[in-house]
Amino acid sequence: MVENIIEVRNISVNYTPAGKSSGETVRAVKGVSLEIRKGEVFAIAGESGCGKSTLAKSIIRLLKPASGQILFKGRDINKLSRGEKKEFTGSVQMVFQNPYHSLNPKMKIYDILKEPLDINTRMSSSEKRKRVENVITDVGLSINSLDNYPHEFSGGQRQRIAIARALVSEPEVVIADEPVSALDASIQAQILNLLNTLKAKYNLTIIFISHDLRVIRYLSDRIGIMYLGELEELGTVDDIFDDPKHPYTRTLLDSIPYIGKEKPELTDKEPENDSNEGCSFCPRCTRCTLEKCSENPKLKQISKTHSVRCALYN
Ligand SMILES: Nc1ncnc2c1ncn2[C@@H]1O[C@H](COP(=O)(O)OP(=O)(O)OP(=O)(O)O)[C@@H](O)[C@H]1O
Ligand SMILES: [Mg+2]
Repeated sequence: MVENIIEVRNISVNYTPAGKSSGETVRAVKGVSLEIRKGEVFAIAGESGCGKSTLAKSIIRLLKPASGQILFKGRDINKLSRGEKKEFTGSVQMVFQNPYHSLNPKMKIYDILKEPLDINTRMSSSEKRKRVENVITDVGLSINSLDNYPHEFSGGQRQRIAIARALVSEPEVVIADEPVSALDASIQAQILNLLNTLKAKYNLTIIFISHDLRVIRYLSDRIGIMYLGELEELGTVDDIFDDPKHPYTRTLLDSIPYIGKEKPELTDKEPENDSNEGCSFCPRCTRCTLEKCSENPKLKQISKTHSVRCALYN
């Protein structure tokens, strides 16, 4: 039986900017439910501002949902004891988008990589040294590079170091939030290959966030498509790329550029936040029939692996 390592149950996450009233609350994630299976690469896709990072930060306990639950191996991550929190921190790690901002410029690479072990483990100095040397080699850098500072490395090398820092505590889950978006295309391919290799070597489950569907297709097993904080479609790579159902998913796929392709029929309207009534994609949807779409649809399973949240399938 497939084991769910993470279960997200109907979570909503809000931001209320400091000094503002709750009337100005941004509802960044709205009632999202999904399961991440042990050993898979689960991608979260959708355009800028749809709530991908907010969802990721909730899964790693950087943000607390206003409602709903997130379970890691069956336990509510917002109800862990002190000891369990430490264990959780070692088990679920994150790689951020920008390798220029995510590494402390004043620390040598060895200290950057050792820090999570200092915080989360009781390993001896020599055990830590050995673990750090192994992990830096696994990401394709030399042991000598441990004596250098972040500014002495290129963007791609820095992202390798960020991946090493995520791996050093031997996590079960790595959340990679746009890990290649800041890199050149050729370096992107190297980092994606590296993630693939490390997934097998470290027995990882990966949550991979990207707005680039080509990158997602290369790496992922299943995909969740988000729009304005809600999950619109969920399926395997084949479900999403070969048989997309939600009009928004089709729009996203049509917008993948390639040479010689006809210009897609796209609505150039911006997303309209934040009405509670009806389907939130309706203002941009070419298939919206107002009568059918005036109620907010629920995510509906349409095959063993494929679910969609659209009135056309409800
Ligand atoms: N700290 C914050 N305070 C207030 N609003 C925020 C904050 N962080 C994010 N938001 C808002 O929450 C919504 C979701 O943002 P989020 O960063 O999760 O989107 P995203 O899908 O990761 O976007 P991107 O692809 O640009 O990284 C957006 O409307 C954003 O403006
Ligand atoms: Mg983001």
